Amino acid sequence: MTPKANQKKRILITAGPTREKLDPVRFISNYSTGFLGYEIAREAKRTGHSVTLISGPTALSAIPGIRLISVESAADMRREVLKWSRSSEIIIMAAAVSDWRPAMAASKKLKKGRGRFRVIRLAENLDILAELGRKKRGKVLVGFALETEDLEKNALKKLKNKNLDLIVTNRLSPAAALFGDNTVEEALIIDRLGKKTTLSGRSKKAVAKIVLDKALNIKI
Ligand code: CTP
Repeated sequence: MTPKANQKKRILITAGPTREKLDPVRFISNYSTGFLGYEIAREAKRTGHSVTLISGPTALSAIPGIRLISVESAADMRREVLKWSRSSEIIIMAAAVSDWRPAMAASKKLKKGRGRFRVIRLAENLDILAELGRKKRGKVLVGFALETEDLEKNALKKLKNKNLDLIVTNRLSPAAALFGDNTVEEALIIDRLGKKTTLSGRSKKAVAKIVLDKALNIKI
């Protein structure tokens, strides 16, 4: 399916985790696989849109026909997102950007033997999505959130605070760890007009289609 020329959108998608360096051989990160973001990118390409995918380290293969920008840290991701967002009409921030980084990255490998505990101080990373929300003009901005409780309350708060057009909130259930699993147990999608969609037991592929469809249908 190819959209008419005036319906073809430039879409920026982020996916995967970020890695925050502790020393030359260690980092802190999270369990994100990037699967959902890659599925959104694949679907956007399949339906004829122009896609740039900014990805943290994942085990997934590049998708033919999609511009792939590989990044490592939240700072790298921020730099590339700010660069590529200028020419994008829709921005879908599916990446699990690390909220913190080690305050100091050692230039040499840290050695053990300094007592039983080593304290790591963390500094908060800049929130890229919130930054985009503050300066977005005429762009559709989609955010993601992973919550363990109060899905709706937290989703509405993030939608408003980050000035989003759409938020996709997944519940992290202890029974089935959402990261790494290819089904979404429970998701709540809310658009900026307050319209809610609840999904349960869907494949990430199906959720990707729904999210993309909703993003494409938002009128700015
Ligand atoms: N995000 C971002 N930059 C960060 C952290 C997160 O752009 N430094 C984006 C993610 O790509 C995702 C959304 O923000 O779209 C996730 O936000 P989340 O971490 O769930 O929420 P927070 O606002 O950080 O709130 P909290 O951690 O308190 O739940």
